[in-house]
Amino acid sequence: MTPRLPPKLLYGGDYNPEQWPESVWLEDVRLMRAAGVNIVSLGIFSWARLQPSEKRFDFGWLDRVMDLLAKNGISVCLATATASPPPWLTRKYPGVLPVTADGVTLQVGSRQQYSPSSPVYKKFAAALVRKLAQRYRRHSALASWHINNEYACHLPECHNADSTRAFRAWLRAKYRTLAALNDAWGTAFWSQAYGDWAEIFTPRRAPYHCNPTQCLDFKRFTSDAFLALYRMEAAILRAATPAIPLTTNFMGFFKPLDYRAWAPEIDYVAWDSYPDPVDEAAARHAGAVGHDLMRSLKPGRPFVLMEQAPSAVNWRSVNLPKRPGIMRLQSLQTVARGGDGVMFFQWRASKAGAEKFHSGLLPHVPPKQSRVFAEVTALGAELKKLTPVAGSLVRNRVAIAFDWHAWWAVELESKPGRIDYAAWAQSLHRWFYQKNIGVDFVHPGAELAGYDLVVAPALYLLTKQAAANLTAFTARGGTLLATYFSGIVDEHEHIVLGGYPALLRQALGLWVEEWAPYPDGRTNGVRLGGRKFTCDHWCDLLHLEGAKPLATYTGDFFAGRPAVTRHRHGRGTAYYLGTRLDAAGLDALLLRVTKTAGVKAPLRAPAGVEITRRDAKRGQFLFALNHTGRPARISLGKYRGTNLLTGRSTARTLTLAPLDAAVIQLKR
Ligand code: GLA
Repeated sequence: MTPRLPPKLLYGGDYNPEQWPESVWLEDVRLMRAAGVNIVSLGIFSWARLQPSEKRFDFGWLDRVMDLLAKNGISVCLATATASPPPWLTRKYPGVLPVTADGVTLQVGSRQQYSPSSPVYKKFAAALVRKLAQRYRRHSALASWHINNEYACHLPECHNADSTRAFRAWLRAKYRTLAALNDAWGTAFWSQAYGDWAEIFTPRRAPYHCNPTQCLDFKRFTSDAFLALYRMEAAILRAATPAIPLTTNFMGFFKPLDYRAWAPEIDYVAWDSYPDPVDEAAARHAGAVGHDLMRSLKPGRPFVLMEQAPSAVNWRSVNLPKRPGIMRLQSLQTVARGGDGVMFFQWRASKAGAEKFHSGLLPHVPPKQSRVFAEVTALGAELKKLTPVAGSLVRNRVAIAFDWHAWWAVELESKPGRIDYAAWAQSLHRWFYQKNIGVDFVHPGAELAGYDLVVAPALYLLTKQAAANLTAFTARGGTLLATYFSGIVDEHEHIVLGGYPALLRQALGLWVEEWAPYPDGRTNGVRLGGRKFTCDHWCDLLHLEGAKPLATYTGDFFAGRPAVTRHRHGRGTAYYLGTRLDAAGLDALLLRVTKTAGVKAPLRAPAGVEITRRDAKRGQFLFALNHTGRPARISLGKYRGTNLLTGRSTARTLTLAPLDAAVIQLKR
C-alpha cells in the first residue's frame, strides 16, 4: 500500500524558521493556529544551517521547531534540504558546480548550484538525508517527506565533466554499440559518425544546428539524471520510514522533466502554481489546466498544491498583488479540480534575501492590520468545513494526449514552423474548461478505455505502440481528434515514411502531402458547415482516403482543398484538424466533436462560472465558482444538497455573488 497523507484538506506553507530568532517561533505557531494552518513544509533551504561544515551537523534548532509544531498540532512535510548546497561544499569541491551549454560555470550565492550528475553532490546529499531520516523517523509531527525542491527549476541542464561522463554512460546503456547510436542519431548526415564513446559530448554550443536526436537524448538523459537523484533520496527515506508518504514539488507544464516517468515514484503529486494576476482570466485557466495535468499524473489520488502565492510574487518585472477574493477562489479551484491541499510560499514573508518582497501568509505588517492575513484566516476556516471532500476524486471522459517526448522533439530546432506544444494543448483545453467539460491528460500509449474523446494536439513524435493504441481506441468506438503535425517522427526523431502521418493514416483516412506553416499575422480562411472562419499558423495539404471533408480552405494555392475532416473508423470516429481555427471556428468544430463523443458538462452555467464534480463512495460534491464580477444564477437541475461553505440546503437555483463559490455535498 502506498503511504497516504492524513484524510483532511492540508493548509499551510513553506516555513523557514531559520531566518528568524527563536523568539519569533512562538508567535509563528500561535498565528498558524489562528489561521487554521495544519501543516508546514520545513527546512527546504536549511542545508547550511543543518551542516555548517563538512564534519559538523546541528539539528538542535530543528528538534526544537519540530517539537514546537508537534505540541501545537501542526504536521510537518519535512524537506530533505538538498536543494541548495552550502558554500563550503562547492568551495572544497568546485567540480559540483553546473556548467551551461556555453561553458559558463554557475557559481555559489544563489541556489541549486549543483550538477545532477555529480557523485560528490550525491554523496553529501545522501549523507544528510540519512541523518534526517534517522533523527526524525519517529517524530510525531512528521506527516510527509518533501524531497529536494523544484528539481531543475533554475538548472534545466548541465554540461560539466560529471554530466558529460554520465551522458556517455546513459548512452552506452541505451544503445550498447556505437553502431546503434550512429544509426539512431543519423550521424551519416554532416560527417558526424562517432568512432569512440569519448568523442561524444553533451550538446554544447556549436556552430550551427545540433544533431536533433543527440539533443532529444540529452533531454531524456537530463530528466533521468534528476530522477535518479530523487530515487536516491527516496530509497533512503523509504527504508527508514516506510509508512510516511514521499513527494517532491512539480511545476505544472515544466518542460525539462518528464513528470510522467516520475509519477510512479512519488506517493502523491505536489505542485507549485504561480499564475500572473495581471490577467485574471488567463490566470484562472492557467491554474485549471495545471491542476488537470498534475492530477492526471496519479489518477486515483488527490494532489496537493504545495506552493502558491498568497498575493504578489517577487520574480516578475512587475508583481501585482492578488486583489481581495482571488486567493480564496484560486484555492477553492484547487480543491474543485482534485486537490486535497492548499499550501503557499511562504508562511512568514522574509526580512532579508532575494525573496523579501514575495508575499507571505504573514506579511511584514502587523497581522491584525493585514488584508492578506484576514483572507488567510478566513480561508483556513472554510477549508475545515470542506473536510468531507478529502479523498474524493475527479473523473473525466475527455483526455488530451500529452507526451513530454513529443514536446521535446517538436520544439527542437530546424522544423517547418514553430509549434509551442504546451500552448497548443492548453488552447484546446481552454475550450473544454470554458464549457465545464472535465479533461485529463494522458500518455498516448496509455489505457484509454475510460474515455469517450481523446484530443491529440501536434503529437509530432509518436511510437508505433502509441499510434496503434489511438487507432484501436477509435476502432472500439472512441472519438479521436488529431491535429496537424502529429505522427511525423518515431522515437529516434526519424520521419516515418509512407505519407504523413503514416502510423495514423488508417484511423484518420487521409494523408498529408505538404504543409504551409504561416508567419505571424498571415491568415487563410475555411468554410465549415456553411460558415466562414479564419485560420492561421499552419495549413496541412491533405489527400483523403476515406475521410470526409468538413471544412475547406478558401485561400492560398490550395483553396478548395480539405482543412478539417471526419472519418468513420471501426465503431468510432476520427477527426483531423489540419490548421489552427479562430475561436468561433474551433467552437463550431468542438461542439460537433463533443456531440459525436457524447460528452457534456455536468450542468449549464453562465460564462465565467466554473463547475466541477468530485466523487467518492461516501458522497459526491459539486463545485461552482463564480469568477466574474457579476452575481451568477445557476440552475442546479437534478443536483440538490448542502452547501458546505454556508451549511445551508440548496434550492433549485443557486445565486453566487461576484467571486463567490459553493461546494455542494449532493444528496444521495
Ligand atoms: C518556488 C520555490 C520557492 C520560492 C517560490 C517563490 O516555487 O520553490 O522556494 O522561491 O518559488 O515564488
